[in-house]
Amino acid sequence: MINYTDKIPNNVDLGRDRVLQRALEHWQPAYMGWWYDMGPNESHNYEIYLRTAISVEADGWAQFGYVKMPDYRWGIFLQPRDEKREVNFGIHKGQPAWQEVPGEYRSTLRRVIVTQGDTEPASVEQQRMLGSSCPSMYDLRNIFQVNVEEGRHLWAMVYLLHRYFGRDGREEAESLLARRSGDADNPRILGAFNEPTPDWLAFYMFTFFTDRDGKFQLCALAESGFDPLARTCRFMLTEEAHHMFVGETGVGRIIQRTCEVMKEHKVEDPSDVRALGVIDLQTIQRYLNFHYSVTLDLYGSDVSSNAANYYTSGLKGRFRETKLEDDHVLAEAEYPVSEVVGGKILKKNVPALTALNERLRDDYIEEIADGVGRWQRVIDNAGIPFRLTLPHKGFHRAIGNFAGHLISPEGEVLSEEAWKNHEFEWLPSSKDYAYVQSLMSGRVVEPGKFANWIAPPTRGINNQPLNFEYVRFN
Ligand SMILES: [Fe+2]
Ligand SMILES: [Fe+2]
Repeated sequence: MINYTDKIPNNVDLGRDRVLQRALEHWQPAYMGWWYDMGPNESHNYEIYLRTAISVEADGWAQFGYVKMPDYRWGIFLQPRDEKREVNFGIHKGQPAWQEVPGEYRSTLRRVIVTQGDTEPASVEQQRMLGSSCPSMYDLRNIFQVNVEEGRHLWAMVYLLHRYFGRDGREEAESLLARRSGDADNPRILGAFNEPTPDWLAFYMFTFFTDRDGKFQLCALAESGFDPLARTCRFMLTEEAHHMFVGETGVGRIIQRTCEVMKEHKVEDPSDVRALGVIDLQTIQRYLNFHYSVTLDLYGSDVSSNAANYYTSGLKGRFRETKLEDDHVLAEAEYPVSEVVGGKILKKNVPALTALNERLRDDYIEEIADGVGRWQRVIDNAGIPFRLTLPHKGFHRAIGNFAGHLISPEGEVLSEEAWKNHEFEWLPSSKDYAYVQSLMSGRVVEPGKFANWIAPPTRGINNQPLNFEYVRFN
């Protein structure tokens, strides 16, 4: 029996909702079983300095203290309701926001929620072995924080399925615990969430690139006319910010350390850089190319009637929908998408409604470019003549108009032979992975110590010092 206010902090009046209680009581043991099997390896007895959300108030959403991860209180929080909120786009624009699922959109909406929900446990599965090669206690704490919050995001989606979708919702909630990242028979729904995250450079790239896809998807769903979904996503976004911070600063610290060593020893050649036990900038660029391109695929086809339907029916908006100045119906508007025609990449205008995936992808790319610019400044400040670049949008794509074409990072359409000649200048090879993993053969967990291949962060978590004991191993 669950003590609801204590065990599952919430602002959905769980203590009084018997139907929801029964559904969650049934699901919770299965969730814990999944966590023990697929959550961070060997971590169950550690006490970790984690933040827990216990309310949506400013003083409640980030409570810090030592917690064993299986005792983490995965809560259910929705941003408080705005009674005046309306559907802000599509054919229902101007109606009061829906508090129940409109019958005609039931299966579509369930699919949208399941697809979002599936990414949350997937990333925990992808990251589960990384604790044994962490570069510091600080970083170990951060990955565990990301993991428990992805677990909470799963709870958030399962709450919606249980509360609003009856028996189908309960079945979907069980399937969310049955799929496995990378499994041949029962994989996670989206491609990038079946890729391995084999090392810490991949982890930081993932949290920078792929958690940011999460942010943009959540922002689009936070505009939904289905108010409980919008409010859930708004609260999830507060946590997502930390995940992206971990990624951006993680890659930034690796770059910083590499640059320090290059300067100190006056070396530039990648093999000389590697001989000094840090990750050469060329390898960092290849990881960037990989994670960027597989994440771009998550936005789906450039031209999509599903995307148009989601928007027209008021289920999924654009990034910052209510801040945009247009009619929010888009019946006449156009938007440019790329196409590969006769060995050239051309732009053509299509109805804006069908190009909403592409538009969200473009919004994402803009924010990514800013982050890569901040990494570049670390290199520039060290006086090292190396440019990190974002590859062309069509590079290494498997979904949409570029799928089936071989595009160089500069945006040239290539023959298969030309691609093969350069593939591993652009994407990490098995040798690159082996090298990066050779640096991470064990974990660094003495408080205040950092692995040689990464610089310490500028400050600790929650104003704690860098040599704080972020994890107690017991
Ligand atoms: Fe998440
Ligand atoms: Fe995340």
